[in-house]
Amino acid sequence: MNQLQDATALSHRPDATRAVHSRRSALYVPANNHRAMQKAATLACDAIILDLEDAIGPDDKPSARMAIKDWFGAGRPPHMACIIRVNALSSPWGMDDLVMAADCAPDAILLPKIETPSHIRAAQKALDDLNTAAHTRLWAMIETPRGLVNCQQIADTGMETDGRLDCLIVGTNDLAKETGVDLAEGRHLITSWLMQIILSARAAGLDVLDGVYNNFRDLDGYRSECEIGRSMGFDGKTLIHPSQIDTANAAFGATVEALAEATAIVAAFALPQNSGKGVIQMDGKMVERLHLEQAEKLLAKSKDRYGL
Ligand code: COA
Ligand code: MG
Repeated sequence: MNQLQDATALSHRPDATRAVHSRRSALYVPANNHRAMQKAATLACDAIILDLEDAIGPDDKPSARMAIKDWFGAGRPPHMACIIRVNALSSPWGMDDLVMAADCAPDAILLPKIETPSHIRAAQKALDDLNTAAHTRLWAMIETPRGLVNCQQIADTGMETDGRLDCLIVGTNDLAKETGVDLAEGRHLITSWLMQIILSARAAGLDVLDGVYNNFRDLDGYRSECEIGRSMGFDGKTLIHPSQIDTANAAFGATVEALAEATAIVAAFALPQNSGKGVIQMDGKMVERLHLEQAEKLLAKSKDRYGL
């Protein structure tokens, strides 16, 4: 690789200064369900996604849009991220949704059925033209065959100057519908797709959340899917029912032991005798600076969660 190519590659590395957030559990809340919207603000999930898309029928879209505006107007809960899922910008409702969402200045706007980088850039330009608050990020759903094959280019828009993309969400129900894959016996047939989405997110320094588990009365199956999702590398899970929150928080959160270990690693590298060292030993185990970075990220995530 020559010097010019090398410099180009380095300038495209993910931004290591990106804010760290706890995103163990993100609950969809249909924006036409007043009771659920009121309840959502009292729950222990890390994020709520007020939904104008799949959960809302065509006739209810305008009133659901107004309900979100009123909900934000009454004061959003401070202890959770508040996200609005709009309809696709190519749909009859998408642009009106986006204008309302920009006005609410949520933590993020979730764009469904993203298939190319141009979809992200179009939303970004519209938000910039509306003078949308800088803290309002974009999240993107990867849930179509084309979105899947273009996932890396989509994720990379998060590294562009003033790029708002922060997080990818897998839409497993739509993926199954669009591809014909049968998920009745579990997700083994789509594991490679899920890993590809996680890889694309990581290459661009983004967070990535797993799809929903439809059978919300099957808590054992749900717990198992959360634990596997955590092992695969997802940051958290999207949820459809309040009964799913605690399990996601436990599966994707850090244990007391992991937090204690992270604290010990940070303390060890802070000792004068270890300053500048690339590798140390703790209790007979090799600990490198990459472990220090992991420990710092874990602690930052739990700090975000508890609002300390
Ligand atoms: N967010 C907030 N509160 C919710 C909720 C949600 N997603 N789902 C249910 N609740 C509340 C109900 O309002 C009810 O509250 P209450 O005790 O104060 O009356 C309580 O939780 C128990 O609800 P339950 O009776 O068990 O469920 P339901 O039959 O009312 O609703 C669903 C079941 C699946 C229709 C509902 O959970 C739902 O709409 N989920 C989200 C669907 C969605 O957004 N899909 C699109 C993205 S995949
Ligand atoms: Mg969908």
